[in-house]
Amino acid sequence: MKNFSFQNPTRIHFGKGMIARIADEIPKEAKILITYGGGSIKKNGTLLQVKEALKDHASTTEFGGIESNPSYETLMEAVVLAKEENIEYLLAVGGGSVIDGTKFIAAAIPFEGDPWTILSENATVHKAIPAGNVLTLPATGSESNSGSVITRRATNDKLAFLSPEVFPRFTVLDPETTYSLPQSQSANGVVDAFVHVMEQYLTTRENAPIQDRYAEGLLLTLIEQGPIVLKQPDNYETRATIMWAANQALNGLIGLGVPHDWSTHMIGHEITALFGLDHAQTLAVVLPSVMHVMREEKASKLLQYGERIWGIKEGDDQERMDAAIHKTRDFFERMGVKTRLSDYGIEESAIADLVDQLKRHKMTTLGENQNITPEVATQILRHAA
Ligand code: NZQ
Ligand code: ZN
Repeated sequence: MKNFSFQNPTRIHFGKGMIARIADEIPKEAKILITYGGGSIKKNGTLLQVKEALKDHASTTEFGGIESNPSYETLMEAVVLAKEENIEYLLAVGGGSVIDGTKFIAAAIPFEGDPWTILSENATVHKAIPAGNVLTLPATGSESNSGSVITRRATNDKLAFLSPEVFPRFTVLDPETTYSLPQSQSANGVVDAFVHVMEQYLTTRENAPIQDRYAEGLLLTLIEQGPIVLKQPDNYETRATIMWAANQALNGLIGLGVPHDWSTHMIGHEITALFGLDHAQTLAVVLPSVMHVMREEKASKLLQYGERIWGIKEGDDQERMDAAIHKTRDFFERMGVKTRLSDYGIEESAIADLVDQLKRHKMTTLGENQNITPEVATQILRHAA
């Protein structure tokens, strides 16, 4: 196990009725900006519950319209509004896009210089205004991590930043807010959480049995509960289990002391940037190909994954690895998330553009061993065609 230091400062309020807890989380006199997306929180009653919780607070302003794959352009409108209104606390209500977008707003408000450099040049975020959130789509783990992914539409850049300053102060995970999710978004969430685990688990072997078994517990649970949520969207226990699994998949714990891959995500971000696929759709396309192309260096973990997750014990090493990759692809397809570029109308001729995007974003040494060069990324994308 490698060395690590760990602190996750986000307080989690989990369960039905817990939105009321935000009343005590945010100072009564703070000027609050509530941020949200396209309106799902108005339809499903989440915004009403938030307003009820904040009824004794002095000042709330709203900023809606944060898109999926939140855009720099829209978020900068919120930054202008927040500065005009002297906003002191941000409350994001929605999915990963709203929460990611709100982290960027929080960092951009006090930032000296061009806020885009936080993404384009990894400029250090020295401070951010405090923010909390109410999560309505279990998927990204953004509700209690320090990451954020922002898209600049004008230039097709989808870039991430990480800063301890943007850890949410608190998050409310009320599974009942997720009953209204369309089936496709429930499925996306399961796939995203699954791939978060895989990025931190399916790497070159490191001696870390606790992290392995945490990761395997999450994978097994997602495989078990994912199909249930598609059939029983109002099943509280299943919604709760998935919400907790998605949180644990990317709150930092399972990735401590082990190598990380993240190549599936970085290649996937370029597919979204150019073709607008949902984040999880890109992951379902890329992960099976990464597993296939990088099988030799991942062999030891890939065989462990096959045996412990899918019960694959028969055949030689290559056959068992093939079977594990097949099972993974099959799981995504059973969740209704397609796994080939062609399923989304993307032709092989687009692969060169995707690889150019990776080069432009300096993503030329991806993977846990930094050996996924543009040539290897091309192989991965060709295999995903
Ligand atoms: O905009 P509204 O109207 O709220 O509708 C949203 C949106 O259309 C809808 N939705 C959310 N909760 C709902 C609901 N509809 C009905 N009922 C509810 N309870 O779902 C749609 C998708 O929402 P979005 O927030 O875009 O999805 P997700 O949570 O999957 O977030 C995706 C974004 O997160 C980034 C992705 O790149 C992408 O931009 N990621 C962030 C990460 C992080 N910060 O750690 C890690 C991830 O790997 C990921 O890259
Ligand atoms: Zn993801």
